[in-house]
Amino acid sequence: MSEIYRPTVAVIDLDHLAYNFKLAQKHAPGKTIIPVIKANAYGHGVIDVMRHLYDQGSRICAVSLLEEALEVRKVFDDIDILMMGPAFKNDLTTCSKARIMTTVYDQESLRDVLKAGVPLSIHLKVDTGMRRYGLSQTDEIMKALKSLHEASHVDLSGLYTHLSTADTDESYMQGQIERFKAILELSPVVPRMVHVANSSAIFKVESTFDFTTHARLGISLYGLSLDHPKPDLRPVMSLVSVVGSIRHLNKGDVLGYGATYQATRDETIAVIPIGYADGFIRRNRDSDVEIKGHRYPLVGTICMDACFARVSDGIQKGDPVTLFGGLITTDEVANRLGTIHYEVTTGISSRVPRITKKGLRT
Ligand SMILES: Cc1ncc(COP(=O)(O)O)c(C=O)c1O
Repeated sequence: MSEIYRPTVAVIDLDHLAYNFKLAQKHAPGKTIIPVIKANAYGHGVIDVMRHLYDQGSRICAVSLLEEALEVRKVFDDIDILMMGPAFKNDLTTCSKARIMTTVYDQESLRDVLKAGVPLSIHLKVDTGMRRYGLSQTDEIMKALKSLHEASHVDLSGLYTHLSTADTDESYMQGQIERFKAILELSPVVPRMVHVANSSAIFKVESTFDFTTHARLGISLYGLSLDHPKPDLRPVMSLVSVVGSIRHLNKGDVLGYGATYQATRDETIAVIPIGYADGFIRRNRDSDVEIKGHRYPLVGTICMDACFARVSDGIQKGDPVTLFGGLITTDEVANRLGTIHYEVTTGISSRVPRITKKGLRT
């Protein structure tokens, strides 16, 4: 989308991004933070996000897909890119050519990498309890480390695991950490990058780790956290629009698809040009929106391209509307939808332009 005409945009505050990045660095002294920028930087716009982090000195990132890795590589020639998701046999030559750090995560991927015959930088993933990707038996992990270390075309650059309950169950997390440490102690070789923590663990335990070199920062880079109490983060995305039209309903008039809303008195309705095709899904119908510092309730069903708020008389066409990121937080939206804020920001569709904003310097 080159020209932007529509007033509905996700505003990305890069100063907040830099602030959150630095805050994470403070909680991981001596370690390198790996920004996790998969899924279009959790919906925030991958290239602008990485460019700003690059300006802050970051020379590494993590993504999930090869497509994501290649998109980043096209713009940033001199950074490390870790692909955490599965690389299939036919992807390995592309990974090699584009210098993508690739994850070995099961026996098949180990076999494929050992047979690849092209130079590869490999991180071995250990499953310590997430049970998604990673080798889990100690003997298979040791054999994998040895064979990867000995393969002349492989640079065994990393060893990592992923914590599944850092924000929900500290004792399970500690069990995973202990399992990882035991693997590391037995390992015949220690790669130069060892990483365990995600956002929650960075703020809770990374400063106590003496066995890691890196930590992977995802959701909290974007100013969001599921922890209680929350770290002092600053939200990066706000979703905004304007009042597209003002309608007046008489008592008894019905509104929108299905005529599901009926005015109980004479009412003023703001039509806002954002709908479910923008990722502002129909289940947001019980939400409020913010206009001129006040909350107003959405009414009626959310359309593909528009929704309705019942507003007070002073509200006019063109007034700015904030869907979330102001009075209404991403947490509030996530709670109301019965989900987590990861799903809220990644769910804003590609039809919504991401616009960077230069906020106040911290
Ligand atoms: C392997 C891996 N590491 C790190 C992260 C970042 O986690 P968070 O967003 O909780 O910081 C993710 C996110 O899903 C992940 O899958």
